[in-house]
Amino acid sequence: MRTFFVVVVIQHLLAAIAAYRALPSSKLIVLYAPGCNSTKLIEEVRRGCNVLIWFSVSLKNGSFIEGGPNRSCVLEVQREVDAVHMISIGGWDAPHPEGNGTEWWSAFEAWNEGLYDGIDWDLEGNDDLGSPYNTMSFETLRLVNDMSVAARKAGAIVSIVPPQSYLDTSETTFSYSLENTYSDFVPEFTYRGRNTYAPLVAWFDYDFVDVQLYESWSRTGQALEQTGADPAHYLLDLVRSLTHDYFVGGFPPELGLGNETLNLSIPLDKLVLGFSRGSPTTPSQAPGKSPFISPSDVGRAWQMMGDHAPRGCMLWNANLDGGPCWLNDGTQLDSCEFVETWNKFLLQRNHALT
Ligand SMILES: *[C@@H]1O[C@H](CO)[C@@H](O)[C@H](O)[C@H]1NC(C)=O
Ligand SMILES: *[C@@H]1O[C@H](CO)[C@@H](O)[C@H](O)[C@H]1NC(C)=O
Ligand SMILES: *[C@@H]1O[C@H](CO)[C@@H](O)[C@H](O)[C@H]1NC(C)=O
Ligand SMILES: *[C@@H]1O[C@H](CO)[C@@H](O)[C@H](O)[C@H]1NC(C)=O
Ligand SMILES: *[C@@H]1O[C@H](CO)[C@@H](O)[C@H](O)[C@H]1NC(C)=O
Ligand SMILES: *[C@@H]1O[C@H](CO)[C@@H](O)[C@H](O)[C@H]1NC(C)=O
Repeated sequence: MRTFFVVVVIQHLLAAIAAYRALPSSKLIVLYAPGCNSTKLIEEVRRGCNVLIWFSVSLKNGSFIEGGPNRSCVLEVQREVDAVHMISIGGWDAPHPEGNGTEWWSAFEAWNEGLYDGIDWDLEGNDDLGSPYNTMSFETLRLVNDMSVAARKAGAIVSIVPPQSYLDTSETTFSYSLENTYSDFVPEFTYRGRNTYAPLVAWFDYDFVDVQLYESWSRTGQALEQTGADPAHYLLDLVRSLTHDYFVGGFPPELGLGNETLNLSIPLDKLVLGFSRGSPTTPSQAPGKSPFISPSDVGRAWQMMGDHAPRGCMLWNANLDGGPCWLNDGTQLDSCEFVETWNKFLLQRNHALT
């Protein structure tokens, strides 16, 4: 009897130590934090950001977790302001994990020591054509799913951040390759996915799905450039497709998804739209490569969508908020306030900036 009570008390203590914060039930303003400038990040949370996704760690062979920001700086930001803190796994050019997702979650919890409230999956491709990391293997997708299931069971938040081609409403098939091309837009660009993350959303209900509309030469960029679409109308149509009209079929049998076309439409309250500051004209960039949608155009889209607007907006990345941005014709604007503008229609938080 006494042993039983001791076990129960220990279990409660462990649960208290590993208590993960839940996502706020409100709309979300999500920022990526590569590195830690605590002054800047505290400012950004005061402006309205309520989810900080710290960037990033890799899961290396042998249960070794590599990277991540300075922990004492993360703690300093956590002490000062009220936000949810997640850690991203992956990034462009980062290795894809191997092994067992359930076991990786245990390794992660031991490493985490309660610092982050959840994980965000950002496994992407690699600059080197032919790199094994330009294939998102079945084993990797299964690992992501299994680790996500274990994270959910522990009460942690789990999100995915697909580049737009990884959840592409204009393509109806799936591919493991991250070296696909579009015949009708910048065909020489060979780093596209084709519904790479579709199995993930078919298998598991993520806390939010954060689509990178700013992927290089994305369908968003194509629409803005080729049809001259009003960005607000484009967002309206895209949100409708992603939440009502997203069908993918022809999955390989090992994914266990059958051979029917699946309706993978993302619930509206799970969808977050990801934006960037656009592309300057430099040797590795070009106007419109990373498409730009101004925060006020996003505001117009939100107004048009009314009760049918998604969960929130994300910016890559926190350090760039308030700095210069580039229109899709290469014109530079000196100061672009994403979070402050989004806050007006998403949260209306009113924090005094100190
Ligand atoms: C950190 O952020 C503050 C406030 O935005 C800025 O003034 C400062 O230059 C930044 N520091 C670094 C090292 O970037
Ligand atoms: C990781 O370990 C597995 C099994 O030991 C091995 O097959 C694989 O090649 C290793 N991967 C890397 C990237 O080292
Ligand atoms: C980590 O952050 C703390 C608190 O901001 C700072 O004092 C320390 O110098 C940082 N360490 C490194 C290695 O940058
Ligand atoms: C991963 O490990 C767990 C237990 O440690 C086991 O139940 C599960 O089947 C393993 N998953 C795979 C894909 O091997
Ligand atoms: C697909 O799913 C979405 C979201 O649940 C729904 O609104 C839509 O009607 C579905 N489409 C079909 C053809 O079932
Ligand atoms: C789809 O799956 C069913 C049952 O496994 C099988 O009988 C059928 O031939 C498959 N159809 C195609 C087009 O692969």
